[in-house]
Amino acid sequence: MQHLIDTSNLSDRQIADILSDAATFKVQKPITLLRDKLLITLFFENSTRTRSSFEVAAKRMGAAVVHLDPSKSSTKKGETLEDTFANLCAMEPDGVIIRHSENETPGKLAKMEMTPVINAGAGNYAHPTQALLDLFTMQEHFGDVRGKTIAIVGDIVSSRVASSGIRLFTRMGMNVILVAPEPFMPQSTLPQYENLEAVLDSVDVIMSLRAQLERHASPIFDDYDAYAQHYCLTPERLGDRDILVLHPGPVMRNIDISDAILGDPRCKVLEQVKNGVYTRMAILKLLLLDA
Ligand code: CP
Repeated sequence: MQHLIDTSNLSDRQIADILSDAATFKVQKPITLLRDKLLITLFFENSTRTRSSFEVAAKRMGAAVVHLDPSKSSTKKGETLEDTFANLCAMEPDGVIIRHSENETPGKLAKMEMTPVINAGAGNYAHPTQALLDLFTMQEHFGDVRGKTIAIVGDIVSSRVASSGIRLFTRMGMNVILVAPEPFMPQSTLPQYENLEAVLDSVDVIMSLRAQLERHASPIFDDYDAYAQHYCLTPERLGDRDILVLHPGPVMRNIDISDAILGDPRCKVLEQVKNGVYTRMAILKLLLLDA
């Protein structure tokens, strides 16, 4: 039984297959490939993109999807997460897709070996399907990402997107540099910069990140307008540089990325969302059929 807790669960061959299948599915949807399959989604944190993207991906392949809303589930009556999961598995789904605030939760459920577990974002450590869709989006643009330089900008220390991305992008031969004010910078051996202007001439991609206010024990900045003056991606800041702009969403408009750059062809935010469906279709194929 194969799980996707982080991209380290995938071999190089499997990553290549996901990228290749996602490209194929973008041209031709395999509408019956998962016809007999049933997936359960279990999101203990809010989500717009990931939850709906998994659901769209599954349905586009003919699978059925059941969503359990934890706020209305028997976890509210004191049932443990493990018991909730075991009860769902007793209904014989072909996989459970889970989002949780704790880094360890998807791995803990995977160890029960009851059904394939897919991590849809956990704590600040892993969001593997986001990393894969970001890789797909960059590969689609560049052809080969090896040797390209990506700057991850913003609240890196709180970001599971950054954590999974750093592990996957470096594995794929990219140069990753981190740009953030000191409170947002994680412990890392990667090159670190506080000044965004210092790296603009040497990057191929900027991945902007939202300040994850819900993960801050106490407010880090009083005023995000002051933060934006240094880190918001604006036409003035980017000039005519040929830089691909990514963001996992949700975007804090005019703090992370300006309205003008969100409408600029260099900005691939909505393309990332579109590619998320095809990448997750490829991931479901891998875990439910191929593995
Ligand atoms: N990128 C991402 O995880 O977005 P959601 O929180 O909306 O799922």
